[in-house]
Amino acid sequence: MPASIPRPEYVDRPGPKPYRGSDVQSEETIEAMREAGRVAHLAILEGAKIIAPGVTTDAIDAVIHEFICDNGGYPSTLGYRGFPKSCCTSVNEVICHGIPDLRPLDDGDLIKIDVTVFKNGVHGDNCMTFGCGQLDQASTQLMNRTKQAMDRAIAAVKPGRQLNVIGRVIEAYAQRFGYGVVRDYTGHGVHSAFHSGLVILHYDQPSLTTVMEEGMTFTIEPMLTLGDYHSHVWKDDWTVVTNDFSRCAQFEQTLVVRAHGAEILTAP
Ligand code: MF3
Ligand code: CO
Ligand code: CO
Repeated sequence: MPASIPRPEYVDRPGPKPYRGSDVQSEETIEAMREAGRVAHLAILEGAKIIAPGVTTDAIDAVIHEFICDNGGYPSTLGYRGFPKSCCTSVNEVICHGIPDLRPLDDGDLIKIDVTVFKNGVHGDNCMTFGCGQLDQASTQLMNRTKQAMDRAIAAVKPGRQLNVIGRVIEAYAQRFGYGVVRDYTGHGVHSAFHSGLVILHYDQPSLTTVMEEGMTFTIEPMLTLGDYHSHVWKDDWTVVTNDFSRCAQFEQTLVVRAHGAEILTAP
């Protein structure tokens, strides 16, 4: 990392300081998040360009790392609670938090790339799923429908509504296809804090009654599986996989609640 690029406070510490402020952000902070989010989004697209059989997830990480640095950002995952890389690359049955490594991608792999960028004091967090080479029909449908689930949840964001509408929309849509909805990992408030403490559930939980307010910033990042949603973590303490090894897809965007609905902050 170039020394000139400002780092989040948690780097070189065991973890982040707990965030105690509001999840409603000023126009100035939102503007900064739009820039961090833009770099985070373009970084995914840059990394995705090299997806092909034989390419390692380390190579994708290197492209993403360089792109973020070139754009004056810091890759938020690098040094976050000890995470060693500049993005998460989660292949097939890996749900999330996969660590880029030397495993070459195979024809037919389903790969999630999750990138968060810290710039101007704030984070923008997003994830997309891609196929490597020729993807089978079940995986292709899972990928497209997970994107659709996220988009439907985003369309349900309105000030005055309770946060539980998000999970209700996602779970209802996933159930049509018999997909699992991962429960152990959630969306979150994001701004000056990477994970603010505000939790966004992707399944129906009526007791999540927090009301969406104009200016609130958070992620929606559903993880849907072809089989069961239950998961465990590898001995590397990061890699989350489905217990039944069923494939998983994920999409994520950072958004701000506006008067008439969500504005996406992780956009080109
Ligand atoms: N970007 C992930 C999220 O959506 C978090 C990754 S944290 C890491 O919240 F340490 F695993 F990189
Ligand atoms: Co996130
Ligand atoms: Co993310």
